[in-house]
Amino acid sequence: MENVVSITNVKKEYTLGKTKVHALNGVNLEVMQKDFMCIIGPSGSGKTTLLNLIGCLDAPTSGEVNLFGKYNVSTLNDKQATLLRRDHIGFIFQTFNLIPVLNVYENIEFPLIIQGVDKADRKKRVMELIADVGLQEFIKHKPDELSGGQRQRIAVARALVTNPKLVLADEPTANLDKENGRIIMEIMKKLNEEHGVTFIFSTHDQRVMEEGRRTVVLSDGMVESDKRI
Ligand SMILES: Nc1ncnc2c1ncn2[C@@H]1O[C@H](COP(=O)(O)OP(=O)(O)OP(=O)(O)O)[C@@H](O)[C@H]1O
Ligand SMILES: [Mg+2]
Repeated sequence: MENVVSITNVKKEYTLGKTKVHALNGVNLEVMQKDFMCIIGPSGSGKTTLLNLIGCLDAPTSGEVNLFGKYNVSTLNDKQATLLRRDHIGFIFQTFNLIPVLNVYENIEFPLIIQGVDKADRKKRVMELIADVGLQEFIKHKPDELSGGQRQRIAVARALVTNPKLVLADEPTANLDKENGRIIMEIMKKLNEEHGVTFIFSTHDQRVMEEGRRTVVLSDGMVESDKRI
């Protein structure tokens, strides 16, 4: 199995006025291709900070974050980080982050337009993903005409439409009810099992934790435990 993320002795400090916050305190973690990994831990333990570093949205204060065995996040310039995110990483956010003026089809198509994929290929790929997440009946709907669960399904499809190697999801079910949370997890699991996409997600939800095939517990910015089931 290929190594997707390699984190070596990573520290992240934020400066707030005169005080320093140690968000991550020496994290070591290897994420392998096809992992379906859940990050849990109390509020403030560093889950979002860690996901942001893996997603090249931020750089560590010290230590190394290496992606796909060849990219050291600290040495990438803005353009390189943008391209790496665009082509290899999918993001699913707690608040969905859809474009309100675009319909379901257009929201999912958007990353492919940015990549410069031609129209016929875009259509094929978007329709596949719409079917994967079960939104065929809602292609022309705008996000505000849909439920929270349906909106998050658009976000999942948008994160996956570019065929990323890695998908990062920060509390993807936090704004969903139980049933919609379950549906989102089922879709993610299916895409992981059938397409080998690596998923790293954080959660506070016991039911979502149980879906992880690997659970990493963070505590005060350190890995407290790391178990595969
Ligand atoms: N931009 C920032 N500036 C200053 N401090 C920050 C910043 N982002 C996070 N922190 C601090 O870093 C620590 C870790 O925060 P982080 O958001 O990673 O926690 P979390 O585990 O995601 O928490 P939650 O479960 O509440 O989402 C916290 O003490 C937080 O206050
Ligand atoms: Mg968080």
